Amino acid sequence: MRPPCTPLLLLLLLNAVPAVRACLQCDRTISLMHDNYILSLPDAIVQATFMNIINGGHDAFRETSLSHKGVIDLTTLYRARTEYQSEFNRFTQTTTGTLFEAIQIMEKGKNILKKHLEIFIVDGLCPNKCGLLVQRVVDCMSCRQRTYNCPSPTGRQDCGENRIEAEEGGQAMLDCFLPWHRLLIGKPEYYFSWAPASDTKETREFQTLVVTRDSFVVLNQLHVDESGTYQCLLQNQTGTLFYKVTFILSVTAVPIQIPKPPVALPVPALHSGHNDERRAALVVVVSVITALSLVACLGLTVVLRSVLLQRKEPATRR
Ligand SMILES: *[C@@H]1O[C@H](CO)[C@@H](O)[C@H](O)[C@H]1NC(C)=O
Repeated sequence: MRPPCTPLLLLLLLNAVPAVRACLQCDRTISLMHDNYILSLPDAIVQATFMNIINGGHDAFRETSLSHKGVIDLTTLYRARTEYQSEFNRFTQTTTGTLFEAIQIMEKGKNILKKHLEIFIVDGLCPNKCGLLVQRVVDCMSCRQRTYNCPSPTGRQDCGENRIEAEEGGQAMLDCFLPWHRLLIGKPEYYFSWAPASDTKETREFQTLVVTRDSFVVLNQLHVDESGTYQCLLQNQTGTLFYKVTFILSVTAVPIQIPKPPVALPVPALHSGHNDERRAALVVVVSVITALSLVACLGLTVVLRSVLLQRKEPATRR
């Protein structure tokens, strides 16, 4: 006698009983793939048998998730999913689909999940060495997204000081970025501010330079009096501080370099309009003097002649 279990009934059962979901099954593609596989099997007994194996596999996924912090991020889930998917496709297409092979493929799925979770825990979960990270993860038990708090391993959001040297007229870049900033939930912004070097630590009051989604600021055309303490705070709209870094900028004066004037020629240059004017004036003066001397010479000759003539005349009269 066949058990009164049709594929439709099975499908209803699959949906009605909330399966314990854990990471790999959190991905809809995977759960659909499993469901379709079961429905493709020839009869209800075989279906029920394989469903047991798959459920056993899901339990193994859950154990694996739980022993690896119970969370995953969407990127890691995607990687694990695609790898498992191709393994499962090979299983359905190239094997004869024995129970043993089904058990093997579930084991494979567990190991794929484990491998990716191990990488995620080392590289993807709480990569902040300093500062507070609140990141979005998928909860492997509920399959819901939630936030995950990664407190600063140093216990402080203040992540130290950088010294920057620059020359007057040059530029300096205040780079506040760390790769984990990209994982922060919400829309935190970078708050850049500064206090002049003349301020002491006690009197120091930071003035806001800029509030921006950009993680860096470039200061151009630096002045010596722009030396000082620059601060970058990464915080969200309600003022939660995630990260803080300080830059000590010192701008050094560059000795003033007067460009050497071109060597002046000893003779006045003839090609300047000014000198041409002078030359014209000189010509006029010389001409006038020459003309005057000529007139004077002529005048003198006439006077001398008349004097000589007057002297001669009385003698002839006598
Ligand atoms: C800022 O971050 C805190 C801590 O994660 C959070 O409680 C708060 O809701 C956030 N505010 C905004 C506007 O996102």
